[in-house]
Amino acid sequence: MIIAIAAEHDTAEPRVAATPETVKKFAALGARVTVEAGAGVRAGIEDRDFRQAGATIAKGVAALARADLVLKVRRPSSAQIKAMKKGAALAAMMDPWDDAGGLAGLARSGVSIFSMELMPRITRAQSMDVLSSQSNLAGYKAVIDAAAEFGRALPMMMTAAGTIAPARVFVMGAGVAGLQAIATARRLGAVVSATDVRRAAGEQVESLGAKFVMVEDGAEDAETAGGYAKEMSKAYQKKQAALIADTIAKQDIVICTALIPGRPAPVLVSRKMVESMKPGSIIVDLAVERGGNCPLSKPGELVVHKGVKLMGYLNVAGRLAIDASSLYARNLYNFSETMIDRDKKALAIDWDDEIITGTLIARDGVIVHDAVRQKGV
Ligand code: NAI
Repeated sequence: MIIAIAAEHDTAEPRVAATPETVKKFAALGARVTVEAGAGVRAGIEDRDFRQAGATIAKGVAALARADLVLKVRRPSSAQIKAMKKGAALAAMMDPWDDAGGLAGLARSGVSIFSMELMPRITRAQSMDVLSSQSNLAGYKAVIDAAAEFGRALPMMMTAAGTIAPARVFVMGAGVAGLQAIATARRLGAVVSATDVRRAAGEQVESLGAKFVMVEDGAEDAETAGGYAKEMSKAYQKKQAALIADTIAKQDIVICTALIPGRPAPVLVSRKMVESMKPGSIIVDLAVERGGNCPLSKPGELVVHKGVKLMGYLNVAGRLAIDASSLYARNLYNFSETMIDRDKKALAIDWDDEIITGTLIARDGVIVHDAVRQKGV
């Protein structure tokens, strides 16, 4: 059984799908691991580190040609997928809700493609949940980025020259990224509040020492069976806008993390709300890749609007490439392990397993995942 680690050729993607630690673990399962030369360099892992862990280094797509399983961070290029054997398996973050044409093209290769973002949220799959591992880092980094741009300190400071008030941080969306943002802002001494449409989030927000702000009505229906939020009614959105408008004017830093799987990000912070904030305030829009929670934020840019700085960094987890790779590689290892027969030292995929059916998007040349075909969960 050969497992290949493909390199990311997109300059915006510094993460890598394996670490020396996971290479060793794969070897212990009887796999031979081939790593595309230079795959780990931007995540602090040299080819020699992979070699010392037992991997073979190969140049370019040749690394993928004999693999039974290829692990990657993002969608492969067409050259990479063409280099793979028909019927081989590929696991990556396939961005399943975008560019359906591109996805169908990759599916035609005949490779079995698993999209790690679709990992079912069941207890057994928690250690494979890439959205969770990467969002955690993104939530932390969003607050660090905001603090670095903010012209003031976050904690209250009592000095001989007088007292500085603590910064007020408002986190929109209290999922994995939002909760980590709350925890980070609290650690830095800010006064933190947060909002979400899922009532269940309230207890978690409060347990981190932040205030929970929420529209009281209709909240019971906001959480889907998968634990995610759904799109809210127009009436709810109106009430939520009034509540946010009232709250946001008093904030120094706003961290936007609200998302609905398979849908554009909900628009929560209007231009008028941005203009109600004091100059020097910061908005970090982690939802920018899905359209943004604020229409003024721009992907990959720092926009200044009437003195308010809107940060729209892309791939925020990738800005902590070493830790992000380490967690992602472990997620992939835990997932791959379920597909390996240790005795036969071969791939043995149980096509009926919930983890497999949940993440498999293409097999035998076609898209097989219903929600991906219909573009929504
Ligand atoms: P997400 O990244 O899909 O969305 C972020 C947050 O935005 C969510 O809390 C969502 O409720 C909120 N949101 C959506 N629309 C909103 C709106 N209009 N206004 C305000 N907030 C809005 O969420 P994430 O981080 O994936 O977490 C979703 C749930 O899944 C949470 O309950 C989390 O605890 C759970 N989870 C379960 C895992 C497991 O069992 N394996 C792993 C990770 C998360």
